[in-house]
Amino acid sequence: MFWLGLDIGTGGSRALLVDEQGRVRAGFTAPHEDMTMARPLWAEQRPENWWDAAAAAIRGVLAAAGASGEQVRAAGLSGQMHGLVILDADRQVIRPALIWCDQRSQPQVDAINAKLGPAKVLECIANPVLTGFTLPKLLWVRDHEPAHFARVRQVLLPKDYVRFRLTGEFASEVSDASGTALFDVVRRRWSWEMVDALGLDRAILPRVYESSQITGAVTAEAAALTGLKEGTPVVGGGGDQAASAVGNGIVRGGIVSCTLGTSGVVFAHMDQVAYDPAGRVHTFCHAVPGKWHVMGVTQGAGLSLQWLRNQLMPGLTYDQMTEEAAGAPVGAHGLFWLPYLMGERTPHLDATARGGWLGLTAKHQRADLIRAVIEGVSYSQRDCLEIVESLGVKVEAVRVSGGGARSAFWRQVLASVFGKRVVQLETQEGSAYGAALLALAGSGAYASVPEVCGAVIREVDSVSPGAEAPFYARAHRVYQGLYPALAPSFRSIAEL
Ligand code: XUL
Repeated sequence: MFWLGLDIGTGGSRALLVDEQGRVRAGFTAPHEDMTMARPLWAEQRPENWWDAAAAAIRGVLAAAGASGEQVRAAGLSGQMHGLVILDADRQVIRPALIWCDQRSQPQVDAINAKLGPAKVLECIANPVLTGFTLPKLLWVRDHEPAHFARVRQVLLPKDYVRFRLTGEFASEVSDASGTALFDVVRRRWSWEMVDALGLDRAILPRVYESSQITGAVTAEAAALTGLKEGTPVVGGGGDQAASAVGNGIVRGGIVSCTLGTSGVVFAHMDQVAYDPAGRVHTFCHAVPGKWHVMGVTQGAGLSLQWLRNQLMPGLTYDQMTEEAAGAPVGAHGLFWLPYLMGERTPHLDATARGGWLGLTAKHQRADLIRAVIEGVSYSQRDCLEIVESLGVKVEAVRVSGGGARSAFWRQVLASVFGKRVVQLETQEGSAYGAALLALAGSGAYASVPEVCGAVIREVDSVSPGAEAPFYARAHRVYQGLYPALAPSFRSIAEL
């Protein structure tokens, strides 16, 4: 038998099949259309394209494994968080989704804070409302596209739109719902207080489950499109970060993960709920029933390297780029990269923050530019780690995953910048793997999420901080001084 994990990412949808021992038997990725960015800091994707890619990925993974849908015991979903999918009375998508990194909604965030007060917001959802979260995006549609808003009958997160196409159900689960700014993270249910205070219709929100609970079954129509068997159970799954954390075994205290995808996330498990009063890190429900997590987010992590390659070094592979960077000296001759290409969440919570190199001289070469990007993203992840530790989370080691962590060079930079042991796991599949493990737990193959993680996740490699660690500790303090010095100019740029 197989269990399917399906991750609706930003760049593509990835399907994985694992066996009962949690071994990956096949994987298949179907790319998404690029996000459209009609203006700086806007970002949209078409939900229908996610569904087409998801169906293609499922067909692809079944073919790669030589398996039939009959052999798939259950499926789990994960996906990019915070996106706004809106459906009308005919269950049709009303407009493209505003996705996680879209930053257009500062006026709506301000309006929510003016209406409820930041303290009340924190009491309702355990987090501040951020521009990237779903609620202010919905209010943006209300303010700017009233004809669209009037047709809204259902609000869904990206993976939950795919769930709807797979099962016909409107459902979500606690970890992804936590990132909407409409969810009472402490009580693990919608915050009707927020919903009512903003004059929204309660009926537009889906039913919420714990992440390993079964939320529905594959319909005949979806079975015909995907090759799955009609009736295959689909568990809640998780927002991509919570799912990735399950895939990395972050289901107890002490170990923290760092996932370098488009965004970069430092993630820690919590038995008891705790939050940063300044709201610089998110406190969300974990995909482990009854548990929570805290995470800090660098908006432009892998995105920084991708931007650099696409704009200035087309033709280079990421391996070639990191190899070149390794040839530049530690600190790239005093060059710093600010990774704020899509504003920033942790630690600045500033949608107007902008990216760039600082410290350029005529001596700098291409290798320095790349190295500075890798170091700058790593400093930003250290900012996240420091805040997580300040909440009392003990960090023995950091488990790394995501595209950036495939580079041995970047793993060494991370270990030295963090001053912690950085560990690599046997399975590097992140979110899709976590979604498959949630399906394993939810279908009863294992008694619980921590049990399946304990049985199947193995460490294979670890690097310790190198001799450059003291230099990086000093350089990180220099880096930390750059944003406060530039913040007024970022605001002026935004107002231009
Ligand atoms: C998490 C977050 C990203 C997106 C895209 O808060 O915004 O992880 O889910 O990967």
